[in-house]
Amino acid sequence: MRAGVSEVSCDHAAQTWNESGTPPAGVHRLFNAYYDRPACLDLLGDVTGKRVLDAACGPGLYATELLRRGASVIGFDHSPRMIEICRERAGQGDFRVHDLSDPITWLPDASVDLALCALAIEYVDDRVGALRELRRVLRPGGALVLSRQHPTGDWLRHGGDYFDVRVISETWSKGWNVRYWLAPLQVICEEIAAAGFWIDRLTEPRPRPEAAAIDPRHYERLCREPTGFLAFRLCPRT
Ligand SMILES: C[S@@+](CC[C@H](N)C(=O)[O-])C[C@H]1O[C@@H](n2cnc3c(N)ncnc32)[C@H](O)[C@@H]1O
Repeated sequence: MRAGVSEVSCDHAAQTWNESGTPPAGVHRLFNAYYDRPACLDLLGDVTGKRVLDAACGPGLYATELLRRGASVIGFDHSPRMIEICRERAGQGDFRVHDLSDPITWLPDASVDLALCALAIEYVDDRVGALRELRRVLRPGGALVLSRQHPTGDWLRHGGDYFDVRVISETWSKGWNVRYWLAPLQVICEEIAAAGFWIDRLTEPRPRPEAAAIDPRHYERLCREPTGFLAFRLCPRT
């Protein structure tokens, strides 16, 4: 398997996420709606009138919000079921099945104003190649907003050598098989640089206060500890 999450697992996850036609509840909602999404939307800034690429768009929660904020959105995901759900949810935009590991042959150079890749890059073996492609399609002056698991949190959870770049394979609740890369912060930054970006902003988000009512234990923990996600705003180096 080339990419880090099996498409079967992604399709299964998509099905689980959308059984009721609503985003995931409980802790999943906390991590997405009240933690990752506010951070990335803040880093994207004003998207009105901008052409935004949502890479690994999943079930379209970002895409829907970006459209609501006045962006035109194109997106992709390697899971056909995610794309189906995304199209249904977003109602407009251009979404297709595509793998982050492959060249985005259907987008010309410098054809989008902003790109977003939320919570997916750690699933990809050739992260530099994937980031290079996202850089290629960005217009000069554009930016890529990238979020991913926090390396310190990953290391606290898995132990071992923090500096080791390694693959973790796990089965999460509901039977989702996941395989993702752990890397220290230095390597994450080196990969970003190797892809031709400089780091404009790096944030270690805290959950929104509303999250306390959803899951007080995770809320408290994410307020104190780097056990969640990191988010970057990356600009193409010229
Ligand atoms: C945790 S979800 C994030 C979805 C969305 N970005 C969000 O934050 O709401 C990870 C997504 O990455 C997608 N994904 C994983 N590996 C991928 C790959 N190699 N190419 C494209 N999409 C991938 C999965 O199908 C899934 O939709």
